[in-house]
Amino acid sequence: MSQRFIALLPAAGAGSRMGSELPKQYLPLLGKPLLAHTLSALAAAPQLDRLVLVLSPEDGWFESIVPHLGELQGKLTVLRCGGASRAESVRNGLAALASELACDDWVLVHDAARPCIAASDIGRLIDALRDEPVGGILALPVADTLKRADGGGQIAATVSRTGLWRAQTPQMFRYGLLRDALDQAADDTITDEASAIEASGHAPRLVLGNERNIKVTYPDDLALAALYLQAR
Ligand code: CTP
Ligand code: MG
Repeated sequence: MSQRFIALLPAAGAGSRMGSELPKQYLPLLGKPLLAHTLSALAAAPQLDRLVLVLSPEDGWFESIVPHLGELQGKLTVLRCGGASRAESVRNGLAALASELACDDWVLVHDAARPCIAASDIGRLIDALRDEPVGGILALPVADTLKRADGGGQIAATVSRTGLWRAQTPQMFRYGLLRDALDQAADDTITDEASAIEASGHAPRLVLGNERNIKVTYPDDLALAALYLQAR
């Protein structure tokens, strides 16, 4: 039987570290809002049947990106059920899909703030995980030497980077398992879907990601994202 793959994009954040009035997902990037790039990138992955966007109920900017969406609008569902944390936005989005998804459908949760995701990254994630019972994430092995600070601006220790990875998105899990894991997790202990799955006793797989799939967080990240997108 063919499997279904749904992308869920939490886009209800305020972008406080960016320091701009407009939430970062709507900031201009090469002539269109950042979120329009993220949506186009996901729409270019033929495996994804559907894109589901989770906005804040107070979002007053989504209409500004509609002219940039073109044909991908047919694949897109817009929910206005974002919450106070990323986990709550994802949890609410999953709950809203309850009548439409089956327990073993795949959900790929992808940060709206990662516009440089490539269709090839998504393909690699899906190919690696489609026969797995639980799922996994795109991630990168840590390359830098790691230091633990002593709290006073000095190094207390050098930490081995052996076995350490940086989590990216998409994070791809079975719908039923992910819903249960997020329903049971406390928001302040989880910063991604994988940590909720881990807390429920499973071991998500690590799939090699891509350095270019950055999360736009600080002002300098916008210029870097523009470079990566232009280099395509
Ligand atoms: N997000 C969300 N709901 C929230 C908080 C975050 O849907 N309550 C989304 C963001 O819109 C973003 C993704 O989760 O696409 C990753 O979060 P992050 O990069 O932390 O974005 P913000 O929370 O908006 O930024 P900041 O933490 O700097 O305020
Ligand atoms: Mg945040």
